[in-house]
Amino acid sequence: MPHYRSLIISLAAPLIAMLLSACQESEYQRLQETPQTGATLLQLSAEGGFALPVIPTSNSITDAKVELGRHLFYDPQLSSNQQQSCESCHEQDKAFSDGIALPHGTSGDILARNSQTLTNVAYNVNYTWGNPRLTTLEQQILIPLTAEDPIELGINDANLNEILQRFRDQLLYQQLFSDAFPEDADPFSLANIIKALASFNRILISDRSPFDKGELSAAAQRGRELFFSEKADCFHCHDGFNFSLSSKNERSLTIPSQRFFNNGLYNLSQDGDYPQNNQGAFDVTGNPQDKGSFRPPTLRNVELTAPYMHDGSIATLEGVVEFYANGGRHIQSSDDIDNLAIINESLGLPADAISHLQGDGRNNPNKQANGFVSGFIASDQEKADLVAFLKSLTDREFINDPRFAKPQALIERDAR
Ligand code: HEC
Ligand code: HEC
Repeated sequence: MPHYRSLIISLAAPLIAMLLSACQESEYQRLQETPQTGATLLQLSAEGGFALPVIPTSNSITDAKVELGRHLFYDPQLSSNQQQSCESCHEQDKAFSDGIALPHGTSGDILARNSQTLTNVAYNVNYTWGNPRLTTLEQQILIPLTAEDPIELGINDANLNEILQRFRDQLLYQQLFSDAFPEDADPFSLANIIKALASFNRILISDRSPFDKGELSAAAQRGRELFFSEKADCFHCHDGFNFSLSSKNERSLTIPSQRFFNNGLYNLSQDGDYPQNNQGAFDVTGNPQDKGSFRPPTLRNVELTAPYMHDGSIATLEGVVEFYANGGRHIQSSDDIDNLAIINESLGLPADAISHLQGDGRNNPNKQANGFVSGFIASDQEKADLVAFLKSLTDREFINDPRFAKPQALIERDAR
């Protein structure tokens, strides 16, 4: 049975229904209008020069919430069988991705999508690789906590109390929960866990790369010109401070109407099909024009987040540049796609099966409709320059920042 992820988000229903409706975009306000008191952990660097993210009024950010969220993020006690934490798929040294094509959840289910970087997630207009309906971090974080098919952390109605009790029983968490939610008589709840995790995810701001500091090598500078040229066309989708059209901040709240694009990875039929467990925004909208449409992800820290694309089917940045130069991917044999075995595992097929993926993505009608990714002729030098530019977006301070790291108290607890 293939695992659907964003279309049929199969959640532990009663527990969750109320939470999903909790945060609508209308609740967003400019930070300037609602000064965030006590959130000193939410910082921009002097170099980066982009604005702070917008924070929903229903979950104002405080240092205490961020600190609780940081502990929960790194704590395997948050999963049903205590085997996985958020960190299992989002590791700081990989810019909060995991280095594999497709991850497995805490009880062994394989996921159909590549673990995303959490770089600058506070700025996303939409969450996950291709879901137009997920517009807040709070909505998104519910999924890894409670999804049932596939299971990620495995919280459900039957085990929720037991899991909350694990935290109630520890002095460390008694303090953290009551500091984070001082108004609540009983602060131990799934809703508060989500608020704290979202607050921690919001401070994961990366704005200290060589690009931000204006320290580009000659190769990276040439690559930058190419990136922003009509020839390579990258900027049409990876635009703005976050190198993703689908970003907003408190100074720039305008959201482009088209936020999902088909870049020609597959074309399994003449009408633009992608593999059946991964049709992008189509899985949510049911509109055939959305087949294979995904959100252009941020390219910040992309050097650290291999393998690439929603299913990890391109192993390297060199491979990505080659793919765009070709104007899409023509899959004929297993040589034309990376990580085939694990992609087939997610589809419940034998490791070397290929016929179900064959097709010429260069002719995908939904790619052609957007008019981009039409291919370009570039010398080896130009391709290397583009890669050098992408690597100039790597923020080493971000991946070493102690504000984002596993808390000492958990390291000590788990060493005992
Ligand atoms: C088993 C692996 C796994 C675990 C555990 C996991 N994630 Fe993820 N995460 C993913 C995958 C895969 C995606 C992409 C989902 C998609 O596109 O459908 C993702 C996406 C996200 C996103 C959206 C990023 C974006 O740019 O839209 C956020 C935020 C996130 N995860 C936070 C968390 C938090 C917080 C936890 C812990 C509660 C967590 N994740 C646990 C694998 C995991
Ligand atoms: C038509 C819009 C569009 C254009 C033009 C475009 N991209 Fe993309 N890019 C996307 C989308 C959408 C994805 C995600 C696709 C998927 O996962 O199926 C993506 C993914 C990527 C990724 C993988 C990121 C990751 O985290 O896995 C890289 C790297 C990338 N693009 C670089 C580039 C470069 C370099 C160019 C120019 C040569 C470019 N893109 C042009 C839309 C575009």
